[in-house]
Parts: sequence; C-alpha cells; structure tokens
Amino acid sequence: ERLAKAHGSQCGFCTPGFVMSMYALLRSSKHPPTEEQIEDSLAGNLCRCTGYRPIIDAFRVFAKTDDSLYTASPSENANGQAICPSTGKPCSCRNETDVNANESSTLSSVKVYLPCSYNEIDGNSYSEKELIFPPELQLRKFMPLKLNGFNGIRWYRPLKLEQLLYLRSCYPDAKLIIGNSEVGVETKFKNAQYKVMISVTHVPELHTLKVEEHGLHIGSAVRLAQLQKFLKNVIAERGSHETSSCHAILRQLKWFAGTQIRNVASVGGNICTASPISDLNPLWMATGANFQIIDVNNNVRTTAAKDFFLGYRKVDLKADEILLSVILPWTRPYEYVKEFKQAHRREDDIALVNAGMRMHITEAEGNWIVSDVSIVYGGVAVVPLTAAKTEKFLVGKKLDDGLLDETFNLLKEDIPLAENAPGGMVEFRSSLTLSFFFKFFLYVTHEMNIKGLRKVGLDAANMSAIQSYTRPVSIGTQGYESVGQGTAVGQPMVHMSAMLQVTGEAEYVDDTPTPPNNLHAALVLSKKAHARILSIDDSVAKCSPGFAGVFLSKDVPGSNHIGPIIHDEEVFASDVVTCVGQIIGIVVADTHDNAKAAANKVNIEYSELPAILSISEAVKAGSFHPNTTRCLSNGDVEQCFASNTCDKIIEGEIRVGGQEHFYMEPQCTFVWPVDSGNEIHMISSTQAPQKHQKYVANALGLPLSKVVCKTKRIGGGFGGKETRSAIFAAAASVASYCLRRPVKIVLDRDVDMITTGQRHSFLGKYKLGFTNDGKIQALDLEIYNNGGNSLDLSLAVLERAVFHSENVYAIPNIRVSGKVCFTNFPSNTAFRGFGGPQGMLIAENWIHHMATELKRSPEEIKELNFQSEGTELYYGQLLKNCTMHSVWDELKASCNILEARKAVNVFNSENRWRKRGIAMVPTKFGISFTAKFMNQAGALVQVYTDGTVLVTHGGVEMGQGLHTKIAQVAASSLDIPLSCVFISETSTDKVPNASPTAASASSDLYGAAVLDACQQIKARMEPIASRGNHKSFAELAQACYMERVDLSAHGFYITPDIGFDWIAGKGSPFNYFTYGAAFAEVEIDTLTGDFHTRTADIVMDLGYSINPAIDIGQIEGAFIQGLGWAAMEELKWGDDNHKWIRPGYLFTCGPGSYKIPSVNDIPLNFKVSLLKGVPNPRAIHSSKAVGEPPFFLASAILFAIKDAIAAARAEEGHLDWFPLDNPATPERIRMACVDSITKKFASVYYRPKLSV
Ligand SMILES: Cc1cc2nc3c(=O)[nH]c(=O)nc-3n(C[C@H](O)[C@H](O)[C@H](O)COP(=O)(O)OP(=O)(O)OC[C@H]3O[C@@H](n4cnc5c(N)ncnc54)[C@H](O)[C@@H]3O)c2cc1C
Ligand code: FES
Repeated sequence: ERLAKAHGSQCGFCTPGFVMSMYALLRSSKHPPTEEQIEDSLAGNLCRCTGYRPIIDAFRVFAKTDDSLYTASPSENANGQAICPSTGKPCSCRNETDVNANESSTLSSVKVYLPCSYNEIDGNSYSEKELIFPPELQLRKFMPLKLNGFNGIRWYRPLKLEQLLYLRSCYPDAKLIIGNSEVGVETKFKNAQYKVMISVTHVPELHTLKVEEHGLHIGSAVRLAQLQKFLKNVIAERGSHETSSCHAILRQLKWFAGTQIRNVASVGGNICTASPISDLNPLWMATGANFQIIDVNNNVRTTAAKDFFLGYRKVDLKADEILLSVILPWTRPYEYVKEFKQAHRREDDIALVNAGMRMHITEAEGNWIVSDVSIVYGGVAVVPLTAAKTEKFLVGKKLDDGLLDETFNLLKEDIPLAENAPGGMVEFRSSLTLSFFFKFFLYVTHEMNIKGLRKVGLDAANMSAIQSYTRPVSIGTQGYESVGQGTAVGQPMVHMSAMLQVTGEAEYVDDTPTPPNNLHAALVLSKKAHARILSIDDSVAKCSPGFAGVFLSKDVPGSNHIGPIIHDEEVFASDVVTCVGQIIGIVVADTHDNAKAAANKVNIEYSELPAILSISEAVKAGSFHPNTTRCLSNGDVEQCFASNTCDKIIEGEIRVGGQEHFYMEPQCTFVWPVDSGNEIHMISSTQAPQKHQKYVANALGLPLSKVVCKTKRIGGGFGGKETRSAIFAAAASVASYCLRRPVKIVLDRDVDMITTGQRHSFLGKYKLGFTNDGKIQALDLEIYNNGGNSLDLSLAVLERAVFHSENVYAIPNIRVSGKVCFTNFPSNTAFRGFGGPQGMLIAENWIHHMATELKRSPEEIKELNFQSEGTELYYGQLLKNCTMHSVWDELKASCNILEARKAVNVFNSENRWRKRGIAMVPTKFGISFTAKFMNQAGALVQVYTDGTVLVTHGGVEMGQGLHTKIAQVAASSLDIPLSCVFISETSTDKVPNASPTAASASSDLYGAAVLDACQQIKARMEPIASRGNHKSFAELAQACYMERVDLSAHGFYITPDIGFDWIAGKGSPFNYFTYGAAFAEVEIDTLTGDFHTRTADIVMDLGYSINPAIDIGQIEGAFIQGLGWAAMEELKWGDDNHKWIRPGYLFTCGPGSYKIPSVNDIPLNFKVSLLKGVPNPRAIHSSKAVGEPPFFLASAILFAIKDAIAAARAEEGHLDWFPLDNPATPERIRMACVDSITKKFASVYYRPKLSV
C-alpha cells in the first residue's frame, strides 16, 4: 500500500519483486532495518520505469523504530528550514500549504505543495500484521529426499555426509547443487542437462563455520550471506592484525551479486564453478587458503587454493571427491590483504577484472622489506592468474616508490592480454591490473605509516587512491505547484492500477488464462548476419515432443511483406536473411519449452554474403536505406566559414552508442481464431494495437474489420513496442490461423534483445565556427544513424535528430544533413526521445568543445547562445512561450553553480586519484508526431445509469499513468470523483485507427479527445441538469436515461497548426516545446573508472501539470533511463571492433552482460522541481508533455564525468579538448584519465571501441 501511495509502481511489472525483497528483509531481520540495509536489499531488483527513488522512499517507512519521533513537532535550522526530529536532516514535516487562488487564473483552486522529502511518511499508520510461518512446516522433520523428474532426471537430498558420499560413489557424474545460482543458469540458458542432481544443502558437515587456532574453517555449503555475518563477528572479536584477509573477503562480498544471490549462493559453489571471473577465488589464492577435499571413502586431503584451479572451469577434484571446506589462515602482524573488483556496474555485476593481493612486511637489518607477497588476478585468463615474476621481484625489496616502474613492467609481462582476448577492452583491463597494484602499494604504504614503520607518510592527495567507496542513503526532493482544475485535474493522484500492481493481481498478457487447446510458440531465427537460405529442414523438429506445427514463408496465407511505413520486411525470411535474429519460421507446441526445443531442431543451411556491421562501414560502402537523405539549412554556412566572421573553426566527431529498451515485460501476444478463423482476436503487449491489427490482417489476408487487438496494460514499452512488437503477433497469427487454435508467444529475454532492435546508434561529424567572445556563427553537421536491416521508423528518428541538432542554441548559419544507414543488424527502432537525445547530445558535444577552445565555462557559452522568445528556428518554426531562460535561471539558483564549481575545484586540488565534475545541460523537446497525419486521436465515453463512466481511448497504459491522467480529465469535466471513472483497456474495436502511444503526446491527444466526448455528453445532459432536481450525477444519469438521452459519445481531436514541408525545408513540425535543464555532480575514481552521481538537480517546465506526482515519476524514470544511456549501458555486437564476438551477434543479450542502472546508481541527492506559474496555452488544461523530454537531461552526468576527467588530465598537463563517446562507462572514464599507467597501453586520445 505504501509503495502504491508513494507512486513507486508505474508499469507494475517489477513491483511484486520489490515487495518480496522488502518482505524478505523484514522477515529475516530481528530489528527494523536501517535505510542502508533497505537500499542494499533492493540492489538485486531492477525497475526500468520509476528511477527507484519513489520505491526507496516508500520502503523507508520500515526503517523507523520510534514513531513518537514523528509526532513531535520539527525544529528549525539557521536557514529556517524544518529539521526532522528523527533524522536531524532538513525535511518538510510541515509541507502542505494552501494558498489563495491566483486571481488572474481561470482555475478553481490553486494548491501549492512545498518540496516534500522522504521523512514525511507517517510511521504511525503501519501496524504489524505479519503472516506467521506455518507451524506445521516449522515442526516438520527433515527427511532425505529422492525425487524423479521428467526425462529420467533424479534429484537427491541427503541429510548426512555418509549418505552424500554414498550417492557420490553411485553417481560420480552427479551434479552437486547448493544455491543453484550457477547450475540454474547452465540448465536454463546453456542447454546443460544433468541426469542426477544431489542437493547438499542439508549436510551439516558442509555447513561448518568455526574459529580455529590457525584460522577459520568454512564449510563448502556455507551461504555467502552467512559468511558475511560470520566474518563481521570474527572481525569484531579478533585482533586486527589477524583479520586482514577477513576484511578483504567481507569487502569483496559487498559487491558480490545482490542480496538474493548471496542468500542462496555458497562458498563451495563459487569455488567449484571455477569461473574465470569469480570474485572470491583470487582472494582464496592470495590469502593462502587451503581447500579440504573428501573422497567417497572418507579420506580427506588438503590442497592449496593456488593449486586448485587447473583450466577453464576445471578444478583439482576427482570424480569420487567433493569439496568439504576452506581453511582461511589468520594474517600475521604486518601482513596486509586487499581485494579489488571493477565491473560495468558497481552493484550486482560480474567483474571485468578483479584481484586479491597480500603482502607481508618484515624487518631485516633495520629495513622493512617485503618477505612474502601474493598477487592474483581474475578476469584476465581462463583461471585466476598469479603474477609470478612480479611476486619474485618484490620479495626482499624495500617498499618505496622506486619499485613501481619495474613492478608495472613485470606485471605487464605476467598478465598479458591478447588483442582479441574474449571480453575485449584489452587496454582497459590491462590498465586495471596495474591500477589495482598501484592502489595496493599505496594501501600497504599507508598501513606502514600508521604503524610508524615509515618516516614519510602518504600525502593527502595520494590517499584518494585508497579510500573505498561507501554509499550513504540517497535523498530525493520534489517540488511542484498543484493547480487544481475541477474534481481531479492537477492533483497528485495515485496511478489507478497501483493497488493491483503492488499485490501482484494486475494482469499482463502472459497472465491471461489460456484454453486447453492453446499452443505455445517459439521462433526459428537466422544465425547469419547476411546469407542466402539454401535449405530448411524441419523433419527432426516435427518429431520433437509436443510438436504441433512449423510455419515458414510459404505458409503465410496473406502477404509475407510487412513494415510500419514501407513494406521492406518479411514475416518469415524467404530467401535471404539480413541479420542474426531475423525470423525465418515459427514452431508451435504444447508447452513453451517443447516449442523452443523443436525450433532448435530446424536445420538451416546458408550461403554467406558480405555483411555491413557498422555506420562507418555503411558510409564507406554507400549502404543507405533508399530515399532517406535529409538536409535542412539556414543562412550560408560555406560563406560564413570562408569569411572572417569566425575567429575560430573547430571540427570533431562524436559516436553515440545504442541502447536496449529493457522493458521488464518481454514482447508477447496471445492470439486466437474466432468462428473458425473468420475473425482473429488477440491480446498484445504493444504500444500500437492498431499496428498489430494491421500486420495480422495483412499476413492473414483478412479485412481490418475482422481483426481485433486489445491491450490492458503493458510492462513497459519505451518505444520498443511501437512497431517491433507487431511482427511477433503476425508470426503467431499465421500459426493460429492455419491450425485454428489459440497461440501464445512470449519471448525469452535473450531472444527479445537479439531480435527487436534498439535505440539507434549515431555518428555525428561537425564543423563549428565562432567568435572569440563566444558567439556561434556557423555549424555544418553530418549525422548518420544505424537503421539496421529494415527502415522501420529510422527515417522519422533521423528527422527528429535533425530538428533537435541545434538544441537550444541560436545559430545564424547552419546546415544539418543526415542519412539512415542500412546495416546487417536487427532493425533499430523508436526509443524514448526518438532521435532527439542523439541530436542534442551531438550539439552539447560541439558546444563543450567550443568552450574548451575558448577556455570559458560551458555554462557561460551556452547562455550566450540561447534561443529566446520569438527566435525563428532554422527550420522555420517560431519560438512562442519560450521558458528556457526561466528554467535555466531557476536551476542555476537551485544548484548554486558558482559555489558548486568552487567546491569541486577545492576537492580536485586535494585529491589526485579521485576527481569531481559538474555540468549543466538544457533541453528543448518538440512535441507532436513529426508525421502530421498521426496527430489525431479518438475516444469513447460511456456514462452508465449508476453515474459511473467507462472511458476508452486509443492510447495504451504502459506505466506512464496515461489512463490515470485521462480519467482525471473525464472526472473534472463531468464534475465527478475520479473513483467514478474507469478505463478498462485499449481496443481496436472501440476506438479505431489510433496512432501508437508515443511521442510524449498521448495525454495531449487523448485528453483532448476525451474532453470533447465529455463535453458532448454534458451538452446532451444539460436540459435535464438545468431542471436542478437531481442530487447526484448518478441521479442525473438515470434521469437522462429515462428521457432517452444518448449517454455515449465519441470524441475526436487533431493537433492544430502543425506541418512541415521537407522539400521547402520549412514549417512548424511541433505544437510546442517542453523545456528543462539539469545539473549533475559526479565523482570518479581515475584509476578504475568507477563513478557515482553525487547530485542531480532537474528543473522542468510542464505547464500546469495534470498530475504532478505522475509527471515527476516520468522525469525521475526518464532521467535514470538516460543515465543508463549516457554512462552505463553498452551494446556489444560482433563487428570489426569486437572480433571475439561472432559477426552480427549481440553479446550483451541479457541482464548478466547488459547493465541498466540499479537502485544504487541513482544520484545521492536527487532533486526535481517543476517551474511554477507557466500555463501552456497549446495543450489540454494548460499542461505539457513529459514522457520523453527529461531523458536527455541525464547527459548532464556524462558532461559532469567529462569535467571530472578534464581535471584528471590537467594533472598530467593535458588541457586540450578530448573526445568522450557515450556511454561514459568505466572503460571510457579510465582510459581518458591518462596517466603513466594508461600510457603503457594506449595513446592520450585513445577512444575505446564502441559498436555504432
Ligand atoms: C545474478 C547472478 C550474479 C552473480 N554474481 C556473481 C558475482 O558478483 N561474483 C561471482 O564470483 N559470482 C557471481 N555469480 C555466480 C554464482 O552465483 C556464484 O558462483 C555462486 O557462489 C555459486 O554458488 P551456488 O551455491 O549457487 O552454486 P551451485 O549452482 O549450486 O553449484 C555450482 C557448481 O559448484 C559445484 N559444487 C557445489 N558444491 C560443491 C562441493 N561441495 N564439491 C564439489 N562441487 C561442488 C556444483 O556441482 C556446480 O557445478 C552470480 C550468479 C548470478 C546468477
Ligand atoms: S514499474 Fe518498475 S519496471 Fe515498470
């Protein structure tokens, strides 16, 4: 309930998972958890909609221990801010104030909410109503188990070691299972099959956790979470010199997976998996741990951890042996152990490189020398690698700075990485190996200083290399003005489905009950990037269990040619495949697993053709989609460059990476024939039911009137379900229609990511001329986007990028030309922002480049060149009601940019290896579909005699709160409470010909259409209402019914005064613009590339928001999704840059390798506020569109990172401009922070490889 009310559920698909994680934490802790524990416990859950802030805020209520603290009145600090009696932090315990209505306003009431903060939640309203663990289960005695599964699988659960050893002797090939976190992945995703499995979770001897004279005895089945707890106690009880290893393991466990995995995963499971990137194995080796191994005859032998790992996932265990326990020795006085790990994402990610290092210092002839050292790296070879030459060199040496250079050279020899080593990032990973050692060296030096073993201490600046990252709890504040209009509009209403979502009762496509004759579908996909299909053999598939049918291009009853704009795609590839993952056929069977198994048995022979695998290859080969060149200009660029108007001319190139949508609910459709195929109906997870209707009708040769698509809600879309979802509906409908049976298709995550296309990657090449006083004179820009193997929406994406290429800057002479590249990748598609962010990112790059050239702050240069009210944009549209300056000024005041700059400069001067950076980024986002005909909307409003109202409109609810806002519009219009309005679903048979729910414009379009319908009904009711003899709306509705008044109306809306002529290159493509600006402050670790966002401060103009809570949710969610795009999420394709991936394949095709932001990536201080008193005259109830505009603002983080990197480069004397492609991942950050380490592997201007 708290989660729903705190607006912590948008699409709701992730919500039950968060609820269960919170519940698990509460159930398993004796005391109320701390706020840190709450954030930690959620780190294994992902949400793509909310940006996490409202989820954390909702759950903070459980961290409260003393409700009386919250009933006390707040005190004030020196600034007059209220101070919470509980936390001692500023808060808004007194946050709600009513103010009088603005007299000039036509609105009925104006309610102002001051910024609210997390501690406003009232802990009193929560009582403990815990379900107890069923006593009969608690009392139940454990029994040894033997279970038989499908296909002869056997599962044993012994309770004693002797039983386990006996089973092992009977089944030497049996798989032992503890947490199943590794074996589960092998069986589910890698087709591994184990006939006999032995769960060793209940064998007491494997659960030993003992403190012994020489160290710790840790049973192999001990869970990692148990080990964490145990180590904490040991550290508290033992002398610090004994527990350096314990500290290192404990710190490493903090970054090992997430809480859910640590709760089940075991020590032995991690060791015996022998993964090259295991986080613990390098540490066991470095600490000198020993492994005890027992055989089936009860013989125990001991082997050193460093001798245990023999090869790729191969360990020193014979078939009749198992790992019994680990013996971890105490450290000695002056012996230091340290752990290292760098991953894409700090939390819940596997290492790119990790390490364990140990050094023992002893005194010899008055000197402190290295007597013993161990340096082991993970992630650099098939087994953890010991730096043997380095170790040998260091022994006997005195620890001083002179050692470093030689050590680095030896490490380079010890840890060689071939140019095409699996995993890539060779320069980065090599740099990390040295960086880790450098940190270790400083750490030991510092420890020696503390002990007084060295005369000279570690200087303050170098201390920054060894401070570990600790994350305080994050704080969010939201400021908005609530302008009430009628009964509902303007109020921060809770998402109408939220209560169903938090209880897990909300239904998605896959929850739809299926009839008994239902079939499940799996796709037959291309395995080649470009090839001719020579033959397709489905004979083996046909004999597969549960098989019901296989359908190929020849089986399509209607047309096999489809596409959202031009029909350049096929439902099933007929002759040639143009990407890996292209659909060649569909197999249906009785279960999802059987369908997948049968689909895998369809054998296809290909003859390979040359493939184009990047924008640059496409440009070189002239490989563009037909008729996709776009060029807009104003002024005379050539003349300006040739004249002496420009004091300086700069040129540059920026690459913008793609982004996976990663909606939580994968693509799915359930389709069934009606009247033996005379009609086809479907329920789909899509943003465009009308496109599903069209694709299916087209593929089956049916009229549109006989095909119905319904969508109740979808678990996220973000553009990925605008066009790409329809092809799966078409494919499934062929099977359903031909067999006259219902068919459900739900894509696995990897299939979804491989087949559905992503945000377009872009390449931008610019030439910019400007004056010495900072005025832009001319811009010549070429942009290319990677369209993939079909046109889809790529041209419209390019066009939006072209329109947004000036961002908010006035440029007297400008030419922007663009082309859509044809490449052999799955067709790229719409994604929040639709090309706008890419165009603006390129713009922010050239303006930052210009500021560097002029040695002035980017903020200053930006301001100097701002467009303003009345500016004619280069494509002819006039700026009206421009609020850019107000937004910018409010942000500047809020973030106190000058003070922030001073503080950052001070920090940077005191810290050599950690740097902070800041940036402010503006945005102006055009609202409307750029295709004029799409800016139309229909709605159906039905009033029933009990006074309730059913609204149906063409828009889809995908978490963005569209239905809630539309219902608010209807409620205010009819002057009834919101609870009387219901929106059930979107359906093509209720509202026809709807545009996709996209372009941020759905509230504007459907709100206006619904308002139109309500007004029609109100007009019809008016004669009866004017009699004044009804007490309620229900009575009025009943009276109208008795008088035979039509209580149902169809509403319609078109956006006025828009249109663009591409031939003339002029027009007004947008109805209006949404403005915003963001400030970010980040801190980076220059030695590893790790970063975190300290502050994000966002100001946006959303007019009079229809629902400020939902709009703020959109801003926060878009910003965090944008953070993923700008700094975390990298798609790695098999291309020329990534030769270790098969050509055309997507390596990052699941959450294991593709990292979206998690709860611990959000800014520590996350402020969002809406500009006040700015009604928008161009949209419903003076509101503004919000879905896409905030996304780009997250680039403030990228530019703040760049600012921090610039400070690091300055330390090495590099003050000039340097390129930083997006995303600014740890790899790009580390390699840009040039120092003596990176210079050993790459040049000063090295740009890490990127698939674009
Ligand atoms: C989401 C996710 C995140 C992860 N993150 C990380 C991470 O950050 N760092 C990291 O290092 N790993 C990570 N892993 C990998 C994995 O979780 C760990 O390796 C874990 O410790 C395995 O333990 P388990 O008990 O689940 O193993 P299981 O899957 O139960 O077993 C793994 C293997 O060990 C063998 N085995 C188990 N016990 C014995 C024994 N006593 N004797 C002989 N063989 C035995 C099994 O037969 C099996 O082959 C992650 C995995 C997932 C799914
Ligand atoms: S609400 Fe979390 S994924 Fe949609």
